[in-house]
Amino acid sequence: MQTLIRGCSQLVTMAGPARPRGGVEMQEIGLVENGALLIEDGKVLAAGDYESVCRVAADGFDAKNVEGRVVTPGLVDAHTHPVFGGSRLDDFERRIQGLSYAEIARMGGGIRSTYLKTQNSKEEDLLKAGEVLLMQMMQSGTTAIEAKSGYGGSVYHELSLLRVLSKLNAQGKMKIVPTLLGAHAVPEGYMSASFAKIVAEEMIPVAASEGLAQFVDVFVEDGYYSHDDARLIASAARQHGLGIRLHVDQLHDGGGAALAAELGAKTADHLEHVSIEGILALKDKGVIPVLLPGSVYCLGSNQYPPARKMIDAGLPVVIASDFNPGSSPVLSLTATMNMACTQMKMLPSEALVACTVNAANSIGLGGQIGSLEKGKSADFVVWNASDYRELAYWVGANLVNQVWVDGVRL
Ligand code: NIG
Ligand code: FE
Repeated sequence: MQTLIRGCSQLVTMAGPARPRGGVEMQEIGLVENGALLIEDGKVLAAGDYESVCRVAADGFDAKNVEGRVVTPGLVDAHTHPVFGGSRLDDFERRIQGLSYAEIARMGGGIRSTYLKTQNSKEEDLLKAGEVLLMQMMQSGTTAIEAKSGYGGSVYHELSLLRVLSKLNAQGKMKIVPTLLGAHAVPEGYMSASFAKIVAEEMIPVAASEGLAQFVDVFVEDGYYSHDDARLIASAARQHGLGIRLHVDQLHDGGGAALAAELGAKTADHLEHVSIEGILALKDKGVIPVLLPGSVYCLGSNQYPPARKMIDAGLPVVIASDFNPGSSPVLSLTATMNMACTQMKMLPSEALVACTVNAANSIGLGGQIGSLEKGKSADFVVWNASDYRELAYWVGANLVNQVWVDGVRL
């Protein structure tokens, strides 16, 4: 049975070349006024203006009128940390009182405190908490995510977090691309190099052979993991056929963008302190920058990553929530788009490209999601808005009217 979604004041198709969009292309959103979308068997059959889509429709289709609302592809969140135990409310208060991320970590807060709370949680409770968070993301318009482990702090617990992600993915609602972030904080009693070796030799082979991860990530920062640690982990990732994503240049310019370029990473994430040389290195080696304004905002900083310089250099920018309990308890990509526009001076069109087509490409799903084109998954959102720019404009409102995944309304 075919379903025709009609009455879209604006249908944002994101139709275009099958690759991430860089530079001025980031303003190309494939906008159709008075658009319609025809879906069948969970896939898009046609997307465009009402008359041309109707010509393709078979007799007896089911029609749904969205009554002048905007329809976009389901949003894609290319950087999240959604499975962990406990909260970080104490860190939140300490930050308000003026302590820095590094100071809080030294006082027993930070990532290591989430290691302990995660290790003390039952796997079924982590799964239940993850389900609730993913449901909230989906109710905010997100239909696919990249999700990292990273709060296990041991081989056993990291693999267990990846298994939780795999169970969440198998539930068939949110599409999840899993990443092993074994090297996040350095667990108590280890040096970074010795734990990096454990990640490379004990986590990566199992995660790869059991199909539990598609990417590997490393938090490269003073007091966390070094360039050499990242090299060791990246080399094991390559050997086992896993892609590389890196947290770099978040708290200072550590030459992380150049490192991501050297290691052939798919993405370099954060980049608040990236240099011009770093930007050029990303461009030169085709590394996609994933920018995370939510963590800048929630850490109370004003050092947003230089999105404009990246777009002007022709890079295809991605924005993502960085959802995590410590630095970014941000579940909503429209809130993230708002920050990208107001603080990083991205246009609403660029912000929407950044968390649809570019994000999908950055997680290896560019052929399936991120745009509404024939053959792609029928993952889309109907918004309580008549102009797509409203997605980035309103603050503190949830504009979601309907979410559809694989042709099914949630
Ligand atoms: O992406 N920077 C490192 N990792 C997370 C923060 C994790 C945490 O504080 O729990 C981030 O911001
Ligand atoms: Fe992160």
